[in-house]
Amino acid sequence: MAIRGRPPLAAALAAALAVVSIVSAEVYFEERFGDGWEKRWVKSDWKKDENTAGDWNYTSGKWTGDPEDKGIQTAEDYRFYAISAEFPEFSNKDKTLVLQFSVKHEQKLDCGGGYIKLLSGEIDQKKFGGDTPYSIMFGPDICGYTTKKVHAILSRDGKNHLIKQEVPCETDQLTHVYTFIVHSDATYSILVDNNEKQTGSLYSDWDILPPKQIKDPDAKKPEDWDDKEYIPDPDDKKPEGYDDIPKEIPDLDAKKPEDWDEEEDGEWTAPTIPNPEYKGPWKQKKIKNPNYKGKWKAPMIDNPDFKDDPYIYAFSNLRYVGIELWQVKSGTLFDNILVCDDPEYAKKFAEETWGKNKDAEKAAFDEAEKSKQEEESKDEDSDLDGEDEEDAEDESDSKSDSDAEEEKETTHDEL
Ligand SMILES: *[C@@H]1O[C@H](CO)[C@@H](O)[C@H](O)[C@H]1NC(C)=O
Repeated sequence: MAIRGRPPLAAALAAALAVVSIVSAEVYFEERFGDGWEKRWVKSDWKKDENTAGDWNYTSGKWTGDPEDKGIQTAEDYRFYAISAEFPEFSNKDKTLVLQFSVKHEQKLDCGGGYIKLLSGEIDQKKFGGDTPYSIMFGPDICGYTTKKVHAILSRDGKNHLIKQEVPCETDQLTHVYTFIVHSDATYSILVDNNEKQTGSLYSDWDILPPKQIKDPDAKKPEDWDDKEYIPDPDDKKPEGYDDIPKEIPDLDAKKPEDWDEEEDGEWTAPTIPNPEYKGPWKQKKIKNPNYKGKWKAPMIDNPDFKDDPYIYAFSNLRYVGIELWQVKSGTLFDNILVCDDPEYAKKFAEETWGKNKDAEKAAFDEAEKSKQEEESKDEDSDLDGEDEEDAEDESDSKSDSDAEEEKETTHDEL
């Protein structure tokens, strides 16, 4: 009995410890979009008077691993979206900050964002829009073939600083989880589907502060610094008579035409052809320079303009999470938004939500694609002139190109 009793006890202890570590996580905001979500979120009136404010569908989407697990999805094309929720104000000073959410672009997004924002202080949620200052903007941004990245923008003193690293995002039509972790030692990580895609320092990967070190502006390349990698080979001499080789020579195969009249046409000379012996102007061979010291670089010195801010990572009064987007094609579905101080908690949260459903969602998506293709081939069979169909497709392609341009401008304004 005693022997058999031990392992369960150990397991119970381990479970208790696990619970403790979860309990120790501070969760500032957690939104699974269950019952009552509409009371927690405020739809902004932004763009309403221009009739370009988009509404949201409360849905799990066209393909899902769990039809009961709903989120909010942009519902109409060519619309602005702005919605936000408030949480008890907090500061991430001396703490880790985790911002996480899942997003699914069911519409096969060709240009648009799927990011969310954290806002500070007091804002009028009814007026929340593209111009409302934010503290952090984070999430995927896709536009055409060139932009497929995770935005991570940090705002400081009214200036928005974009991450300088190119962090790739997912581009398919399935749910993905985006996680931004900022530590109190000013390091950060960006995760997609619980996999770390980027990590580094806020000092070097954003231009929030001037660089700690700069190239010494007073440093000069020493006179005797040899930065020529190759030099002419002094042993390579021009062969005797090289310059006497003519570029062209008379064509020996040419014959004076039968009807050539020396009296009238003058003396006949053979036409010239390129000389195969001629190799162009002589060039001395090059060899590696034995005195080559490498390219000269100015030494780095401490930047006199750098003033450290040990709270470079901190926001003192975070209070809202907001989604603010322009969408050409609607269908972006947000779910499972989390703001907390514990990356482990966030990881488990992602596993319990996205992780649990992702395989079933993929299966449902494959099924939806299959029936779509079957529908399409049925249409093609009944359509005698297949070329018309192709033309129609071309047209929609070029249309989305101009949409892309339009969206680009909007995005840039907003940043
Ligand atoms: C949102 O719901 C409406 C009404 O059911 C539907 O017509 C529309 O297609 C939905 N939008 C998306 C993007 O699925």
